[in-house]
Amino acid sequence: MEIITFAASPRKGGNTEILLDEVIVGLRQAGVKVKKFRTHELEISPCKGCGKCDTLGRCVIEDSFQELYDLLIECDGMVFSSPLYFMNVPSGGKALIDRCQVFWTAQERLKIDLFGSRKRLGLLISCSGKSFGYGKIPVFRGIEDTLTSVFKTLGMEMMESLLFTRIDSKGAIARVPSALETARITGRKMAELLQKK
Ligand SMILES: Cc1cc2nc3c(=O)[nH]c(=O)nc-3n(C[C@H](O)[C@H](O)[C@H](O)COP(=O)(O)O)c2cc1C
Repeated sequence: MEIITFAASPRKGGNTEILLDEVIVGLRQAGVKVKKFRTHELEISPCKGCGKCDTLGRCVIEDSFQELYDLLIECDGMVFSSPLYFMNVPSGGKALIDRCQVFWTAQERLKIDLFGSRKRLGLLISCSGKSFGYGKIPVFRGIEDTLTSVFKTLGMEMMESLLFTRIDSKGAIARVPSALETARITGRKMAELLQKK
């Protein structure tokens, strides 16, 4: 059993990566293999909208995404940790998400069954500086909508999200022990859900 995890903050060791590392501890305690990537250390070009994946079922851009492509098909789930940037995912993480269009076209246009009936899970982790969005819209609405569609495209069921508001300065989440504990428990819970499948 293997989970692929992404730290999508450009701030190395920031709040969302601290939470991700706790989830990873929980997953590993439960015997799950974990791969971790920092999106800002990968070379992932933006989707060009060239449409080649519509007919080829593969992306033609040669960069780090090609290695992730196979991992994203083979894994049992994904943990995506991301700060809230202008109500959504920062650019490095968004480039990765947009490149997942190749999974959408393969399934929806080319009718290729990439994931079969395997139970796969997706977990979103995020922190925001504020507790509400502009015009008082729910602060995590944008990022939750985005990740819901990513997980759906990857044939993953979205678990509850780990979301913390009013966490802004680097490392502030480390001063909230209950958040770290919740993250570790969530990692173990994700493992249990996958082991039950
Ligand atoms: C470019 C940028 C945009 C941000 N946009 C928002 C936002 O729209 N809403 C919000 O509540 N916080 C926003 N924040 C605050 C971050 O979400 C917050 O500091 C978070 O804890 C950072 O997580 P990290 O340490 O994992 O990078 C923004 C921060 C930056 C640097």
